[in-house]
Amino acid sequence: MGTLQMAAPGPLTIAPQQPPDVLDLSLVLPTYNESAHIEAIVEQLVAALDGIPGLKYEIIIVDDDSPDRTWEKALQLSQKFPQLRAIRRQHQRDLSTAVLQGWQAACGEIFAVMDADLQHPPETITELWRAMRRGADLAVASRNVEGGGVSDWTLPRRIVSRGAQLLGLVVVPEVAGKVSDPMSGYFMVRRSALEGRELKPLGYKILMEVLARGGVEKISEVPYVFRETPERPSKHSPAVFAQYLKHLSRLRIHLLKTSPFVRFCIVGASGTLIDTTMLFLLSDPRTLNWTLTGSKIIAAEVALANNFIWNDLWTFEKFSRRQNSFRQRARRFLKFNLLCSVGIILNLIILNIGFKVFHMNRYIANLSAIFVVTFWNYNTNRKLSWRTTAKE
Ligand code: GDD
Ligand code: MN
Repeated sequence: MGTLQMAAPGPLTIAPQQPPDVLDLSLVLPTYNESAHIEAIVEQLVAALDGIPGLKYEIIIVDDDSPDRTWEKALQLSQKFPQLRAIRRQHQRDLSTAVLQGWQAACGEIFAVMDADLQHPPETITELWRAMRRGADLAVASRNVEGGGVSDWTLPRRIVSRGAQLLGLVVVPEVAGKVSDPMSGYFMVRRSALEGRELKPLGYKILMEVLARGGVEKISEVPYVFRETPERPSKHSPAVFAQYLKHLSRLRIHLLKTSPFVRFCIVGASGTLIDTTMLFLLSDPRTLNWTLTGSKIIAAEVALANNFIWNDLWTFEKFSRRQNSFRQRARRFLKFNLLCSVGIILNLIILNIGFKVFHMNRYIANLSAIFVVTFWNYNTNRKLSWRTTAKE
């Protein structure tokens, strides 16, 4: 197959697999000035993959117009190895987007990526494949599980690598904490976990992007030893680090924007505003001066209806889009009411204790009650009304 030119990408999405060229595995090797290594790595990979009975695979080299003409070498090699394809990108130079464009052109049911400079041992590919066959959505080759490691890394390099991982754990713990080696560039992922999702990769850390935006549930880790080669010092420059920071903050914003808990709290805040206004209109001595408990029940009910509507349309949109008949919505509204009624009782108890026992200002007592009840409401409703953990 020849070289292929690709337009500069916006967000990248993976299309569904197209028969008849369906394969089991598509392995992408991103390259930049790897002409000295690719022959050896392709030979070793072919030997390893041919050893897996019945496996239909392809290897896709995505080269960013390397000055050492890696793409040309790849093209020559593809004559010897029909399962090898070469893509030459002429106007971009970025590891993550190269990998994704390789996957976009891929025919496999499972995607893989690894470095092309022999620092990732080719034989580990078999272990990763086995992990996927056992049902993993994602299998990562990790330096940080038993049996894995780094050969001859200098102390400063170890510190930088661990520092980057720590930073990831602080900024996006729900992503970086999913695996022991979130910096790994050697892994396999099911196409179905990425299909139709918008990916906006940046820089080196494609795995973080996949973990954050892909539908990955079952993860498996396989140990490997990162081979240091003296002639190849790390290319991690300040620019790469700056890209990493930008990528992390982008992921953080994305996760906040789509986090059901954050949405639930925003909806809750709108409900609180309604609740507090109603409480003022009904119970304040300057207005209707009704009893505190009676006023609170009415105020809370109105806020509740408001919250249900927004939570159903926005907070848990993924779930409610699938279960959108009138009956299903009505059932959810009933469950939501029931669970929040318990919440209201909890709220009343806290409000009264605050107001009567501790002589707190009624609004402050009410806000404290709402704070506690938010956690009750979120967790019970998430599990029981919009069952996000259940498999359909
Ligand atoms: N197409 C393309 N474009 N490929 C690139 C580019 C680029 O701009 N930059 C690097 N590559 C290719 C290299 O040729 C190599 O095959 C692979 O991407 C990794 O690049 P290295 O420069 O060798 O990375 P490293 O040795 O520092 O390895 C670290 O990063 C890897 C990638 O995330 C480690 O953290 C590895 O574990 C990790 O796999
Ligand atoms: Mn390398």
